Amino acid sequence: MGIETSCDETGVGIVRGTELLADAVASSVDEHARFGGVVPEVASRAHLEAMVPTVQRALDDADLTLADLDGIAVTAGPGLAGALMVGVGAAKAYSIATGVPLYGVNHLSAHIAVDTLENGPIPEPAIGLLVSGGHSSIMMVEDLAGKVTQLGASIDDAAGEAFDKVARLLGLPFPGGPYIDRAAKEGDRAYVRFPRGLTAAKDMERHRYDFSFSGLKTAVARWIEARRAEGEDVPVNDVAAAFQEAVCDVLTRKAILAAKEHGVDTILLGGGVAANSRLRTLAAERAEEAGITLRHPRPKLCTDNGAMVAALGSHLVAAGVAPSRIDFPANSSMDIEVVSLADRL
Ligand code: KG4
Ligand code: ZN
Repeated sequence: MGIETSCDETGVGIVRGTELLADAVASSVDEHARFGGVVPEVASRAHLEAMVPTVQRALDDADLTLADLDGIAVTAGPGLAGALMVGVGAAKAYSIATGVPLYGVNHLSAHIAVDTLENGPIPEPAIGLLVSGGHSSIMMVEDLAGKVTQLGASIDDAAGEAFDKVARLLGLPFPGGPYIDRAAKEGDRAYVRFPRGLTAAKDMERHRYDFSFSGLKTAVARWIEARRAEGEDVPVNDVAAAFQEAVCDVLTRKAILAAKEHGVDTILLGGGVAANSRLRTLAAERAEEAGITLRHPRPKLCTDNGAMVAALGSHLVAAGVAPSRIDFPANSSMDIEVVSLADRL
């Protein structure tokens, strides 16, 4: 069983090997929408209320009881401290009550591991393009049970954050990613050419696999302001499509480059932004041209859920990795390269 509470989704998933048995998610997103972003304290309280019922729902969906579990995994970080503590506390209680081993795992590795539920074992090494609300990283996955290294990352905003901020500029609801995705389907992606961060020759030397989306967000804001100053309407669908294109262009270009330059022939997409339809299409086109295999989970498994944590836990058990010490802490800024917390602190 995997428990996820790093942000605003209370997720409980159950897997057997790489087979998905249950994926129960309770979201507090509606409670945050009017603030235009996740309010940590509201999220923590919502997790507290949803935790036990969501565990029960997952068990019911899988037609199992607590006594059937062989292990429990929980997101130990990174994420919102108070939110993480609810999941970690619950997981410890369930582990003690059932006597099964407990694994404190990394949310980001779980975003990669979830792909095993749909596409089977991950060929190693693989390049992981991890794009969520808090991270945009290119990861080298040599061993999903313990050796993942970051080749590059955003030096400012995460990709999902850029989607959410630009959605706000366009008057679209929170979280903006899915709304931009939808609007962009009706828009012209060549309507404006927004800047591609860190792709100039000098940046490619220092920041070869890094991203920057803050300049892009500012460019969109300025474009919208100028348009409004002229008293003209903002073509929301076109701006959404052009912005989305700029993000997806850089993400896919750099992920393919990293794969080629490291002699790796598999790329995995993971994280909430991996649900983006244009990112999936463009990545597939470019991977095919480069002779690289592209893998990604279905959109529902890209955004936060408990199945991804269960998938990673199951992989760790199969790989013979030792469980975590019962007194491990929730770590809001957990190192992206730490897959799971060891049996010693
Ligand atoms: O992985 P995730 O569910 O939570 C974090 O770990 O942060 O990612 C959430 C992010 C949000 O910024 C959301 O707007 C974005 O993923 N997102 C999308 C799409 N679906 C979710 N961005 C672009 N297109 C989508 N279809
Ligand atoms: Zn996530």
